Amino acid sequence: MAFIDKIKEKAKADKKTIVLPESMDKRTFEAAEKILKEDIANIVIIGTPEEIEKNGQGYDITGATIVDPFNDPNKQKYIDKFVELRAKKGVTPEQAQEQMEKDYMYYACLMVKCGDADGAVSGACHSTGNTIRPALQLLKTKPGISSVSGFFLMEVPDCTLGENGIFVFADCAVNPDIDSNKLAEIAKLSSDSFESFVGAKSKVAMLSYSSKGSAKSDDVDKVANAVAIAHEKYPEITVDGELQLDAALVEEVGKLKAPESQVAGHANTLVFPSLEAGNIGYKLVQRLAKANAYGPVLQGLSMPVNDLSRGCYADDIVGTVALTAVQAQNA
Ligand code: ACO
Repeated sequence: MAFIDKIKEKAKADKKTIVLPESMDKRTFEAAEKILKEDIANIVIIGTPEEIEKNGQGYDITGATIVDPFNDPNKQKYIDKFVELRAKKGVTPEQAQEQMEKDYMYYACLMVKCGDADGAVSGACHSTGNTIRPALQLLKTKPGISSVSGFFLMEVPDCTLGENGIFVFADCAVNPDIDSNKLAEIAKLSSDSFESFVGAKSKVAMLSYSSKGSAKSDDVDKVANAVAIAHEKYPEITVDGELQLDAALVEEVGKLKAPESQVAGHANTLVFPSLEAGNIGYKLVQRLAKANAYGPVLQGLSMPVNDLSRGCYADDIVGTVALTAVQAQNA
């Protein structure tokens, strides 16, 4: 069974409610129809009657809950929650209402925060920054976590490396500035994400252009320090570095370059040293190895919210909703 089909089966086993705020995009309705037909999740779509009429025409979304952000009996509750959560920033009720009506992702996050939905998926027609900013502002991180990061579940065809071709790659989506502390935290979150989605033991490689001191620079030190922090703070995870990609993945190279390492040659969870490396890395594997790339899935948020690529198809939205529902089961 393909990886994403397993995730859909998990989602069906304990159905969650996921909000889709992009009623201005037809793909939302095409995906909602499929999700409802396959019984993957309960769906809430945020939109005015005009938006639903215009973009939902031709799709059977009977069974979805429609929330009109201009005429919703729960709206005052969400405005109050917005003002409470952003009190330190001086947000007024008028500003909260305006933001929620202008950008439905704020509305979706407030529904999740108030317990009226279990997760949200957006980004088919919004940039990553605009999709995740409302979640960062309103939902915040899990206790003890300083930064949200974004990973991809990579499914590489005809590949025996990693967990038979399944990998977690991080951070590929969120943090433009990564220091050693953040990298160590990304290692811990990614290890947990791999184990909860893949159901196998995670082996985390902290990637670099150096293996165990073979090169010297501040960038290499950043990764080596992150490994030391991760060993100290998260002794429960299996993590090593700094490792070059070939040493991380290929047994013979791992034995040569890092013979003492438990991870070298067997890594299934790859932590990249920068957002540039992570974002370019996952796209290289997706395009050149024809891998399926599911994500970016956000990790470290207090409640599940996930982003889509603006080039996504309705089936990608279906997959991301299933992943979000599974995160909600484990929240
Ligand atoms: N984790 C937790 N909280 C965060 C994080 C983080 N990683 N980053 C910012 N925040 C918080 C801030 O502390 C702030 O909180 P506050 O308002 O309560 O004080 C809030 O989020 C907003 O932060 P800003 O710095 O004002 O927001 P910014 O405009 O910088 O947005 C964002 C943050 C969206 C994550 C930004 O760093 C960004 O755009 N990252 C890159 C996204 C991207 O383009 N990725 C590549 C494409 S994705 C792809 O190809 C699949």
